[in-house]
Amino acid sequence: MDIANNCRVCNNKIEPFMTFGNMPIANGFLKEEAFKDEYFFEMKPSFCNKCFAFQLIEQPDAELMFNESYPFFSSLSKHMQTHFDNFANSVINRFLKSKDSPMAIELGSNDGIMLRHFKDAEIKHLGIEPSQNVAQIAKEKGINTISEFFNEELAVKVLEEYGHADVMFAANVMCHIPNINSVFAGISNLLSKDGVLIFEDPYLGDMLNKVSYDQIYDEHVYIFSALSVISICERHDLELIDVEPQVTHGGSMRYFIGKKGSHEISNNVSKIIMNEEKKGFKEISTYERFRDNCEKSKKELLELLTKIKDENKRVVGYGATSKSTTVLNYSEIGPDLIDFISDTTPLKQNKFSPGAHIPVKSYENFSQNPPDYALLFAWNHKKEIFEKETEFEKNGGKWITFVPRVEIL
Ligand code: TYD
Ligand code: ZN
Repeated sequence: MDIANNCRVCNNKIEPFMTFGNMPIANGFLKEEAFKDEYFFEMKPSFCNKCFAFQLIEQPDAELMFNESYPFFSSLSKHMQTHFDNFANSVINRFLKSKDSPMAIELGSNDGIMLRHFKDAEIKHLGIEPSQNVAQIAKEKGINTISEFFNEELAVKVLEEYGHADVMFAANVMCHIPNINSVFAGISNLLSKDGVLIFEDPYLGDMLNKVSYDQIYDEHVYIFSALSVISICERHDLELIDVEPQVTHGGSMRYFIGKKGSHEISNNVSKIIMNEEKKGFKEISTYERFRDNCEKSKKELLELLTKIKDENKRVVGYGATSKSTTVLNYSEIGPDLIDFISDTTPLKQNKFSPGAHIPVKSYENFSQNPPDYALLFAWNHKKEIFEKETEFEKNGGKWITFVPRVEIL
């Protein structure tokens, strides 16, 4: 357990502005015999008024979260495939096309969903992926991968072996790393003079707007804003040169970062700073308002599910997401209110959801015996899911969502 009484970025004294109560490992789907040893930590977010980093105070050790049974495979969703295909191609076209024998490094390369494009284009590449099971899949596809945690020390070794990187990139990885200063120091050392770091993560602005508090779980030690990313860059002789909003993960931001003074800075940077300041991202009252909205959302969801249960109707969860662990445990929703959660990931099936212990079953259990209501835990894939679930609705099935508000659709 890593507990921060001071800001993880700038060492300023920080305090939580709310608690979500005791939380298990969000991706820790488990068998019944493991219930008695289940790990919990208190999930308390805080906001640093000096560097503006939104962060968790308590953070379980990385090995508890990213291990050989980490059930996250990027390549499972069709829309995410397309998103990463486009991301990879845009990096190649914007930053590497004009270079002689460029070098690309991805942090948290998962099963190689992005790096396969670099391999196909015969670009020198390296994937750094701590979860061994997914790293193995990438290796089997011929993608150059090492299974380690990236930090300042590893960067020195990588630099010796591969030389400077022209691009480094990461998707849904940076916000997982408690010691972000070590990672940025490593990146600053590894990048070539005009090299670029591109990373994307769930965006604080979307979370505050949509009250999507389920973005907060053990793995997401930070929820970044442009303001907080700028503060990190400043500590490592780097600067934010561009930003691009993304629709993935319910609203993300892609940050482009270069060495200080080596790139032209897009107008998008001053625009996003102005917007974040206007929306109060630097003020604690904004986060206190978010806390009140979370409490309201929790109460409404619990009331709705209780009412449906009283009518003897069946509810099934759709998608055993990491995010659902926060919703279920914070809102105290258990198997009394939800029959089971349907999920297409074999590693999650025939196990129980972390903490709440709701059974997770294969998709066939949903499609062959549809419930009255499907609670959309995978709301970030709403478009893809609604496209394929027209039958469910035609047969009278209804969707329940809680983002951006609790409602029956
Ligand atoms: P994901 O989007 O990665 O969310 P999180 O980061 O919160 O875990 O997870 C989506 C989960 O939903 C994943 O376990 C697969 C599952 N899923 C389905 O069962 N059916 C679907 O149609 C889709 C798109 C996802
Ligand atoms: Zn700080």
